[in-house]
Parts: sequence; structure tokens; C-alpha cells
Amino acid sequence: MQWQRRSGRHNLPWQHTTEPYRVWLSEIMLQQTQASRVQLYWPRFLARFPTLQSLAAAPLEEVLALWSGLGYYRRAALLHRCAQSIATQHGGEFPRSAEALQALPGIGRSTAAAIAAFCWNERTPILDGNVRRVLARCFALDTPSERQLWPLAETLLPADAANMPAYTQALMDLGALLCTPRRPDCQNCPLAAQCLAAASGTPERWPTPAARAQKRALTLWLLHASNADGTLIWLTQRPARGIWGGLHCLPTFPSRARLLAALPEKNRAAAREQPPISHQLTHRSLTLHIIKAPFAASATPPAPGAWHSTAALHTLGLPAPIRRHLEKQEN
Ligand code: ADE
Repeated sequence: MQWQRRSGRHNLPWQHTTEPYRVWLSEIMLQQTQASRVQLYWPRFLARFPTLQSLAAAPLEEVLALWSGLGYYRRAALLHRCAQSIATQHGGEFPRSAEALQALPGIGRSTAAAIAAFCWNERTPILDGNVRRVLARCFALDTPSERQLWPLAETLLPADAANMPAYTQALMDLGALLCTPRRPDCQNCPLAAQCLAAASGTPERWPTPAARAQKRALTLWLLHASNADGTLIWLTQRPARGIWGGLHCLPTFPSRARLLAALPEKNRAAAREQPPISHQLTHRSLTLHIIKAPFAASATPPAPGAWHSTAALHTLGLPAPIRRHLEKQEN
């Protein structure tokens, strides 16, 4: 937010209003169109349709005509339908929560959140293409899924709801101005010190382009819990069905955030993320993120399993990449 105050965008016309009708219109236009272009269309549209009621009462043709040049015309039809729905079913007032907004035509989860954050300071995360890229890089998520990103975005929200507009704008500006798809400007980025992609020296690599269609990508987060001298390791036996069925393995988690959240604070502070490992299965392209955390042998790491002697790993069935990883350990 400090960075946004000094270096973000402050002259976009829709930044100077909290009127839901105007904010909503800007967010719909901004869904697939650059701000520089929306800047020209938004005031023109509002000059012709200054209120929700005037838009709802207009013929669709006229709305489409004003939209021409913005592209993705389905947006204009949905915009018109949304205006009519609010006029007839909501007494002409925008519903005042992100959750309720999402039920309206053309308003997805991220657009709803942007409106609610800007207009009413609601503590709810946005997750558009720009923010997805920022998060994928900051946390080095190769193939981030929605299920992984939404909860992560949620954990990053400012505690004070009064900061929601500034925070939301800051994320948007970061993605648009610095954390660009090509040649991101890490030198000037306020997140550079904590960004895993920046630390790698090749931030453009995140997020990786979608894997080949026939082979589904899967990212696993694995906890490597071992005692101080590395003689013991916590292993879990995988369910009989599914990937690595029945083998012993490091316990897996659906996301980095979930894994870290499961660790007691002391272990989390000492946790070290290892460089990601790619591994190909017949129908899966795996990315393994192993997080190594020390535990006392008297402790119970936060996953089903048991301590095993690292000297006896050859007696256990282990997935090949996990065995290779464990054999490389110094302790
Ligand atoms: N992209 C989506 N919403 C935006 C906003 N309010 N300002 C700038 N860019 C955006």
C-alpha cells in the first residue's frame, strides 16, 4: 500500500468514486480491456447512461453501440441484463456484499470482490489474471489452481477493512505496472525481498504455461519432517488407490499455505522450502514442492504417519523421486 501511494495509479477516473453503479461499470469494462482504453469509454458511457435506471430502460442495441470498440460484446449484453435485474428485483440498489453481487449476470467472484472492496471496504480478495500472476510468482506456484489461490489470497488481506480499497488497488497496480508477464520490474517491486520467483533470477517462469492437454498437471506440497540429525523421517502410507497407491511417502498437502498452516509455529520458523522437482507419470505431470522442517523425535508431525529410520529406507516402497530426494540429504 505504501508502494501504491507513491508509485501506483491515481488518475484513473473510476478511482474517484465509490458509487456502485460507476464502479461496477468500470470493473465490467476492465475485465478484458486495458485501463488506457476503458478510460475513454467509461465517461462516454456514463454521459449517455448516468444511472442504473437509465441503462436498464435502454434498448440493448444502444448499449451495444456504445460498447463497440471494447470487444467481448457478451459483456455488454450481460451488463444490460444485470442492470435490469437490479432495477426489477433489487429495488434499484446494488446488493451490498460480494457474495450477493456474484449472483448477478456478468459478475464473477473477482469482479464482485473488487466492487465490494472499493465501495464498502469488504474484506474479500480479488483474483484476476494479474493477481494470479503476482501470487504465482511471489510463492513460486507453478500451476496454481483456483482452489489453491483463493484461500491464499484470503490469508493475505489487510486486517483493517479500511485498507481494502488501497490494498485492492495496490495488487492491481502491481500486476499491471511491475509484475508484467514479460520482463517484470523486480528492481522496483516492494515484494522483491519475499518473492520466490524474483529470488530465482528468472521470475518470468511463473506461472508456467498450461501443461499439454492430455497430461494433467498436479502440484504436490510435501512435508519432509525429520529429527535434528536426520536419522528419523516421518512417512505416511499412501491410500491404495490413486497416485503412488500403497507406497510410503512424505505426507502431502494441497497447497503451500495449508502445509505451513499445519506446522506448529516453532517448526514453521525453521522450515526450508527445497527447489521444486518435476516428475512425469503416465497421465500426470507432477511438480513436487518439498518443505523441510525439523521436529523432535518425541513430537508428532501434523499428518498421519510414523517415524522411520533413514538407515532402513531401502526396506520401504517409496516413489522414485522421493527416494532420490531422501538419498541426497546430508543429514
Ligand atoms: N483492472 C480491473 N479493475 C481495475 C481497476 N479498478 N483499476 C485498474 N485496473 C483494473
